[in-house]
Amino acid sequence: MTHKRITIDYIEYSAVGEMDPQDQEVVAAALEARKGSYSPYSKFRVGAALRLADGTIVQGANQENIAYPSGLCAERTAMFAASANHPGVPFDTLAIVGGNGAEVCEMPAAPCGGCRQVMAEYQRLYDRPLRIILIGSHAIYKFDKVEDILPLIFDSLKVE
Ligand code: THU
Repeated sequence: MTHKRITIDYIEYSAVGEMDPQDQEVVAAALEARKGSYSPYSKFRVGAALRLADGTIVQGANQENIAYPSGLCAERTAMFAASANHPGVPFDTLAIVGGNGAEVCEMPAAPCGGCRQVMAEYQRLYDRPLRIILIGSHAIYKFDKVEDILPLIFDSLKVE
């Protein structure tokens, strides 16, 4: 028996001004994307912005439905829109921000497991690390790749 440990590295910023200009841009786009949230049931407004390798920024926001499981998270909305409208263009950076009503959570809201799995799929498809930025009003976290928020990714299924 061997005791093993998985560690992850991430950067914490205390303000958006500490970030690279390109990252500041995608953070601003995620904050703006919250305007598109349709969340009458949870009142939790989530915005996401995805920078593609060609510099295009695709925004998404959570969309709810009276039949709850029919809704979709902000980040998946952004990723699916990017894949549908810009097929073949790799994903570079995904920024996510959530909060109740007009408020932004003090500490970054973390993406759900389903969204992490979808991130993993596109990262593998494009064979390129997908950077992830989680935004809070008191702290911003930056991860270099999906493994850092989803260790032991399921990719054992051999397709083709
Ligand atoms: N939500 C997201 O948009 N992203 C996540 O990663 C977690 C949750 C949304 C789904 C739902 O509309 C609301 O937040 C409350 O769960």
